[in-house]
Formats: sequence, C-alpha cells, structure tokens
Amino acid sequence: MDTNESPVTLVDARSNELSAWLAAIVDSSDDAIVSKTLEGVVTSWNRGAERLFGYSAAEAVGQHISLIIPEDRKAEEDDVLARLRRGERIDHFETVRRAKDGHLVPISLTVSPVRDVKGTVIGASKVARNITERIHAEEALRRVHAELEERVRARTAELSSANESLRVEMAERQRVEQERIQLLTRLVLAQEDERRRIARELHDQLGQQLTALRLTLETLKAQSVERSDLRVQIETLEELARQLDEDVAFRVWELRPTVLENLGVQAALTNYVRHWSKHFGIRAQLLTGQSTDERLTSEAETMMYRLAQEALNNVAKHARADHVDVVLERSAEHVSLIIEDNGVGFDASNAETIGEGLGLIGMRERAALVGADLQIESTPGRGTTVIVRAPVVAPAIKSA
Ligand SMILES: Nc1ncnc2c1ncn2[C@@H]1O[C@H](COP(=O)(O)OP(=O)(O)OP(=O)(O)O)[C@@H](O)[C@H]1O
Ligand SMILES: [Mg+2]
Repeated sequence: MDTNESPVTLVDARSNELSAWLAAIVDSSDDAIVSKTLEGVVTSWNRGAERLFGYSAAEAVGQHISLIIPEDRKAEEDDVLARLRRGERIDHFETVRRAKDGHLVPISLTVSPVRDVKGTVIGASKVARNITERIHAEEALRRVHAELEERVRARTAELSSANESLRVEMAERQRVEQERIQLLTRLVLAQEDERRRIARELHDQLGQQLTALRLTLETLKAQSVERSDLRVQIETLEELARQLDEDVAFRVWELRPTVLENLGVQAALTNYVRHWSKHFGIRAQLLTGQSTDERLTSEAETMMYRLAQEALNNVAKHARADHVDVVLERSAEHVSLIIEDNGVGFDASNAETIGEGLGLIGMRERAALVGADLQIESTPGRGTTVIVRAPVVAPAIKSA
C-alpha cells in the first residue's frame, strides 16, 4: 500500500474499482438490466438489453422506456412508475416487450426503486429475463396435455360404445338362452304327453288283445284235455302270452308312472327299482333317509324319476353290474338322488366313450330345467355314480 496517498484518495480509488467491477457484472449478465428515471427515461442499458431488445445502448439511453413497450401495454408502464414512486418493488412480473425489429419478446420483469443517499426514490432498475423458451415449453406442454385429453376422450367414447355393444350382445344371448329353455321345456312336456298317449294305447289296445289271447288259449286248453301233444304247445303259448302281458305292463308303467302322479317320487321310485331289478335280474334297492310325505314340484319329481330311469337303463345296457344302490335323500334345502352301480364304469370326460348317446345329455338338460345339478363320477373298472341334487323349491318352469 502507498502510504503517501491520503485516506480519501484511497477510498475513491476503492470505490472506482468497485463501480467498474459492478459495471462488468452488469454487462456480462444474460439478463437485460436497464435503469430509468421516475419519468421513464432510460439512463443505462447493458449488453443483455442490447441482445434482448435489439437497440444498442447509444440508441436507447436518453429515450423514453415506451420505446420497447407495445401499444396495448402502455397503461402497464404508468402503473409500474406509480408503484415505483411509492417505493414499491415489482417482482417477476410477466409481460411482453417489443424489440427493435418489431417482434414481441415475453419477459419476466423485476423492477426495484433506486434511491439517493437520503433514501429518496430517484429512478428504477429493471431486470428483464427472456422467458420465450419457458413459454414455448409451457405451450408445448399445454398442447401435449390437450392432445392427451382428446385421446382419453376418444378412448372413453370408444369404450363406452364397446360397452354398449357388449350389453346389447349379452341381452341378445340372454334372450336366445331364454328361448332355448322355453323350447326345451315345451319339448320335455310334449315328451311326457307323448309317453302318456303311447302308454294309454299300449294298455287299451295291446293289453286288451293280450287278455283276449290268454282267454282264448285257456278255452283251447280246456277243449284239448284229450290231446296231450296240443296241450304242451298251448301251455308254451300261454307262457309266451303271459310274458308278453308282463312286458307290456312293464312298458306301460314305465311310460306312465301313475304312482308318481299320485304318491310322489319316493313311492314311485321304490316301485320302479323293485320292478326294474326283477325285470333285468340285477340286485337293486332304494335307500331313503327320513321318509317324508312332502312333495316336490311335479316338474322336479318327474325329472328325478326320468333321470333314475335313464341311469338304470344305462346300467342295464352298459354296466354289466350285479348290484345297484339307489339313494334318495332329503335335507331342508335339497333333494338328492344317487344311482351307484358296481359295473365296468367308463371315462366320463372322454367324448368318444360317451359317443352319440342322448341319455346323459338329456339328463343334464332336464336337471338344469328345474335348477338341479348333475354329476357323473365313473372310473373304468370301478363302477359309475350318478348324483343329482335339486333345490326343494325349484324354479318354476316357464312354459311358452
Ligand atoms: N352306468 C354306466 N356304466 C358304464 N358305462 C356307462 C354307464 N352310463 C353311461 N355309460 C357310457 O356312457 C355312454 C353315454 O351314455 P348315454 O346314456 O348318453 O348314451 P347311450 O345309453 O349309449 O344311448 P341312449 O341313452 O341315447 O340310448 C354310453 O354309451 C356308455 O358308454
Ligand atoms: Mg343311455
């Protein structure tokens, strides 16, 4: 340090150095830094301002700041000046200014009052930051957002139309299923009617003719007391007629289970299993839990009975069994029927073994009509069990 210099000179030198230093900082800033008087006359204009607004410092200093204010923003500047006079600072105020070449520059503006040593506001310094890029980014973001919203809207519309066609399709399927059930119900009812008709005809015509035949044979036998050769043949014919009568009676009774109508499924099944066992020579018994007089709906009773018939027919036809258990069980909510044989069994999951028979399919459909559930458990070599479980309160059959 030079000790000859007076302290004042030293302070001056320091202060000059500091001013130059600050001027260099201001000049090198990317932001536009401008100062103006309280009347709005530009007093300084850094390089950042030259770059941002296109005017050189020589062109701008001494001009009114309205040089860069677009026509429709003039009022804004009056407001800024009024606030400055009150000593207020304006922070990050977003606006636009017009550059020398006429294009509009979006900026973020901070304006602070400049005071003299006594604290009086004598002017203002403005720092303006170019926010073009940010505005562009915001616009791009808005566009993307709008696009996204549009896509969501379009997708939602697409989905709701898909939803609607799905709803229509489901309704259509339900309608078709309803029709199928109605048709099946009509078929089952028609089948029962037809069976009754055939049973009546068999009974009324064939039955009577057979009775006539047996009576005639009896008369013939009485008249051939002397002819032992004829007598043997007549007795053979009598045995044939008796067999035939029995067969017809069995078929009639099979076709038209009057016991079922009159006494219910338990009595009808007891009867049926006994006759069936005798007819086919296979040991069979009906096992029941607590017996009850309570009846099911006639549709459910007929279903149970026909199902037992079909299952027992299958045993006679396919199983080569020598024993069958038929179990009828009743709980508060369900009636279950189980037909279990000790025959050869089959692979119930194999379509080929099941072949083209309609028995099992028919059983399933009849069970479904009264809301019952059918299961077939079978293993080759280990017998077959058919289980049907019907709700006590069966859904009403809808006839068309
Ligand atoms: N109790 C059983 N024991 C062994 N095999 C069985 C038994 N029940 C059914 N099957 C097998 O399942 C197949 C299908 O039975 P289903 O009753 O559907 O037809 P089907 O008796 O052959 O003909 P349909 O009943 O139409 O006169 C039978 O062909 C047989 O191979
Ligand atoms: Mg069958």
